[in-house]
Amino acid sequence: MARRIIIDTDPGQDDAVAILLALASPELDVVVITTVAGNVPQPLVTANALAMCELAGRTDVPVHMGADGPLERELYTAEYVHGPTGIDGADLPTPVMKAKDDHAVDFIIEACLDADDPITICPIGPLTNVAAAIARQPSIVSAIREVALMGGGFFEGGNTTPVAEFNIFVDPDAASIVFNSGVPLTMFPLDVTHEALVLPDDLERFSGLGTRAGTAVAGMLDYYERHDIEKYGFEGAPLHDPCVIAYLIEPQLFSGKPCRVDVETESELTMGQTVVDWWGVTGAEPNAMVIDSVDRQGFMDLLVERIGAL
Ligand code: BDR
Ligand code: CA
Repeated sequence: MARRIIIDTDPGQDDAVAILLALASPELDVVVITTVAGNVPQPLVTANALAMCELAGRTDVPVHMGADGPLERELYTAEYVHGPTGIDGADLPTPVMKAKDDHAVDFIIEACLDADDPITICPIGPLTNVAAAIARQPSIVSAIREVALMGGGFFEGGNTTPVAEFNIFVDPDAASIVFNSGVPLTMFPLDVTHEALVLPDDLERFSGLGTRAGTAVAGMLDYYERHDIEKYGFEGAPLHDPCVIAYLIEPQLFSGKPCRVDVETESELTMGQTVVDWWGVTGAEPNAMVIDSVDRQGFMDLLVERIGAL
């Protein structure tokens, strides 16, 4: 039976590719896509999620709009990475599909509690919606199969401040709620996503598919990689968010180990840092499976195959 998942997202080109990968994969049943302000504000992230459903021919998947900013702070966005729309490079028409009326947080609570078959939540943006759902209805924690999230960094440092990764930096209070909730967590920090680079040959494989989805993915990634190439000297862009989805489809591509992870919410200097006890020096009980490595070629082959099937 397909694994039931919620994708909580702030598209973003890498979110967009993650959504397409999930929608193209029979191993996964995307119950809902919920949106959160992050890379760009609401309602752009919601429009982008709708556009991906239409591109994948999956107008049956409900999209619910969620938080328009962090729990307690001002929204910090990343147009400098993703462009003014969040998915620049895709060149897609304005979606016809509309978001559903219920707020994402209400839908997440309901979907978790109603499930005979426990649901997996995949947050690939700031953790605002997921934290709000847990804070409002703590009993959902024991009903969730797994939270597999993209966020944080440890040996690799940060991409937004020297020590903080974007998703955690935008809403550290929400991240702290999720990491301390007791929910089964799998974390995909920059340490693994910086191995998941899209290289020039991969871009050619996407454009060579000759399909609408292939062309849109190649266009988005071509736009998105310019930032990482200029700023970090990388050979291509890290496909952060698709790592989460690929792991649910082919977990053997990834490796890591259970660790204690805490989130800094007070220091202005290190705000949003994920403190990962990789060496177990505190003796504290692990609260997350921390992934630090990926088989890049296997990951890219999976992506090209699935995007090619759309
Ligand atoms: C994360 O931040 C966003 O820019 C990406 O979509 C990804 O979720 C990487 O730090
Ligand atoms: Ca994202």
